Amino acid sequence: MEKIPIAMPDIDENDIKAVSSCLRSRQIAAGKITEEFEKLLAKEIGVKCCLAVNSGTTALRIALRSLKLSKGSEVIIPDMSFAATAHAVSLEGLIPIFCDIKPDGNIDESLIEKRITPKTKAVLVVHLHGICAKIDMISEICRKNGLFLVEDCAQAFGSNINENMAGSFGDVSAFSLYATKNIATGEGGVVCFNHAEDEGKALRWVNNGRENGEEILSLGDNLRLSNINASLGISQLKKHKKMLNKRKVIAEIYNSEFSRLNSIILPPYSGKYGNAYHHYNLIFKRGVDFNEALEFFGSEGISIKRYYPYTLSECAPFRRKPLKTSGFISKNSFCIPIFSSMKESDAKRVAKAVKDFVRRREK
Ligand SMILES: Cc1ncc(COP(=O)(O)O)c(C=O)c1O
Repeated sequence: MEKIPIAMPDIDENDIKAVSSCLRSRQIAAGKITEEFEKLLAKEIGVKCCLAVNSGTTALRIALRSLKLSKGSEVIIPDMSFAATAHAVSLEGLIPIFCDIKPDGNIDESLIEKRITPKTKAVLVVHLHGICAKIDMISEICRKNGLFLVEDCAQAFGSNINENMAGSFGDVSAFSLYATKNIATGEGGVVCFNHAEDEGKALRWVNNGRENGEEILSLGDNLRLSNINASLGISQLKKHKKMLNKRKVIAEIYNSEFSRLNSIILPPYSGKYGNAYHHYNLIFKRGVDFNEALEFFGSEGISIKRYYPYTLSECAPFRRKPLKTSGFISKNSFCIPIFSSMKESDAKRVAKAVKDFVRRREK
């Protein structure tokens, strides 16, 4: 019995052809294909322009830097995410202020205003697990308090509110294209801007101080995305709706199989706030022993994962006490496999194992 992985990039013959064709062309550094990828992304996400970079962490750092906040400004962030969300804030000389979350994993918008101080300059929202945060309400809080809104969409390519895509709401937003993300280039990231002049400056930061020619206009780094990665990105983008639908099919199997399990909290169904089903997280209301779960699912040939066994406030370099809901969820939830190339029969196998596990614990 083959072990079902927790996640898997969806690579087909078209992806392989796209990358091979780039390799055959010998134009393998950042170039025309990267630029074409940026244009296609901007159109799909619904923003003025995109800048492709070498990781989601870089994208977040560039997004924050583009706001030109003074050092020591405070940025409100959710207490649950990948460490990169908080680290990007600190690495840019800003102070992350942790805000508790809701059971869906996203920042609790009702707590944001309590965290605002005279030093607060921005709110950085993460659409965790692919679930769109209450971004319309958070936009309004930002507008009322004169704060910038930044979106960390690393996990949320394809998530939306009505026709508006995650990534199109913020003053600036960032995506990751890491291997297991909803569209993947191996490593990579994207910054989305609504002002072309912001993109120009950001390009200098990631392109050794250059914009269009060879003149060095400012201090800069090399954080570019290569044509090779971008060719895979274009090919992934062409099929992203199909991939998203396949994730939804898997999620719907789980949703219907688990609808009577009262001891676990399921991810929200897609409603007004879209779910791109990047992860499928189960929260155990009365707690769960993760080692016991690992052993049980391991013996069934199924991978499970606690993506965030820590809260951001707990992790280095912050080392503070976890907040209430994030502290509970970090210890009492885990994700089950979901990816677009997953077979429906495997989803049914996972669902049966989850039900057996839950019933065994209820005895
Ligand atoms: C929410 C979130 N933000 C940022 C990142 C960083 O992206 P990358 O790994 O591409 O640097 C990730 C990656 O997992 C993430 O999940």
